[in-house]
Amino acid sequence: MNQVRVAVFASGTGSNFQAMLDAENLACDIVLLVSDKPNAPAINKAKAHGIATLVFDPKGFPSKQDYESMLIEKLRVKSIRWIFLAGYMRIVGLTLLKAFEGRIVNIHPSLLPAFPGKDAIGQAIEAGVKKTGVTIHFIDEGIDTGPIIAQEEVSIPPAVSKEGLAQRIHRVEHQLYPKVINQLIQSEG
Ligand code: GRF
Repeated sequence: MNQVRVAVFASGTGSNFQAMLDAENLACDIVLLVSDKPNAPAINKAKAHGIATLVFDPKGFPSKQDYESMLIEKLRVKSIRWIFLAGYMRIVGLTLLKAFEGRIVNIHPSLLPAFPGKDAIGQAIEAGVKKTGVTIHFIDEGIDTGPIIAQEEVSIPPAVSKEGLAQRIHRVEHQLYPKVINQLIQSEG
C-alpha cells in the first residue's frame, strides 16, 4: 500500500490522469480528483477507479480566494501532500499556492518558456518550428513560468495536423508525468 496521498486537478479529458491510474508502479495514492467542470470526462475516469471526486463551480464563490480556501480545507481533510495539475484550466491563486508551496506541479504541452498559455500546440504549428515538447514544472504566480522539473522534445513532422501533433505530445506526456511524479515522491524520502 502506498503512503503519500495526492490529488489530481483536471478540467477536461483526463488522459494524463488516466496514465497515472494505469502506471504500474506509481509511488503515491491518488485519493482525490478535483474538477471545475461538471462534465469533464476525467470525473468518470475517477469514478471508474473508485477515486473520490470534488467538483466545484468557481462562479458559486465570491472570489478565487474563497473557492481556494474551500479546496484547501477539503485537501487537508484528506491529508493531501501533492497536487498534480493535469489539464486544469484555471490559474492557481496565491491562497492555494501558499498552502501547498512547492508541492503543486503542472504539465504543459510545449518546451517552456516557448509557447506558454493556451493552445501551445497550435502556437507551435503556427510558428513553423521543427520541434516542440512537454514540460513538467512547479507552479508559481505566473502563467507557465514556474521552475522546470523535466522536459522532453517532440519533433513536428512537415504538414502535421493539430490533432496529429497533439497525439504525439500526449504519448510523451503519458510516459513522462508518472515518471516525474515518482521522482518527486521518492526524492522526499
Ligand atoms: C495536456 O496536453 C497538458 O499538457 C495540458 O492540458 C492537456 C490535458 O490533456 N496542460 P488531458 O486532459 O490530460 O487529456
